[in-house]
Amino acid sequence: MAEKSAASAGLTDEQIHELVQKSHQAKQRAYAPYSNFRVGAALHTEDGTIFTGCNVENSSYSLACCAERTAIFKAVSEGYKSFRAIAIAGDVESEFLAPCGSCRQVMREFGTDWTVYLTKPDLSYRTMTVGELLPCSFGPDDLNKPKVKGQ
Ligand code: THU
Repeated sequence: MAEKSAASAGLTDEQIHELVQKSHQAKQRAYAPYSNFRVGAALHTEDGTIFTGCNVENSSYSLACCAERTAIFKAVSEGYKSFRAIAIAGDVESEFLAPCGSCRQVMREFGTDWTVYLTKPDLSYRTMTVGELLPCSFGPDDLNKPKVKGQ
């Protein structure tokens, strides 16, 4: 069922299955009348609390918010910043749904060493880390590195 390539986030197969299922349930709440491309996400925090999210589009198209960011922002706004894994769900049958670049950067804000489950509607998944999805990335620590003076 799983095509494994990275750490399992310390989750059991059952926990992974639950997370993947929840991401597909969250997809049913997608507000995507413009793209008709539904996406859901389910985020497993360090203590096991799960936050879900869906994409939320807008008639002013550029204001759309992706499912992954909805889930992450919900979690952060509730006081959670340590994440073990996120599952991402769409309706594409033939390929595992990959997160967009903006969402990869938002994930990366909270570390490179946690897990992303890219799923298909049949609930199969591919496992990757945030660091694998966004190599050589910019993050919070970069802001504190020594800078040249006098320019
Ligand atoms: N979308 C997501 O929710 N997550 C992604 O990682 C890729 C794209 C949404 C944004 C938009 O509502 C629709 O999919 C089409 O791009």
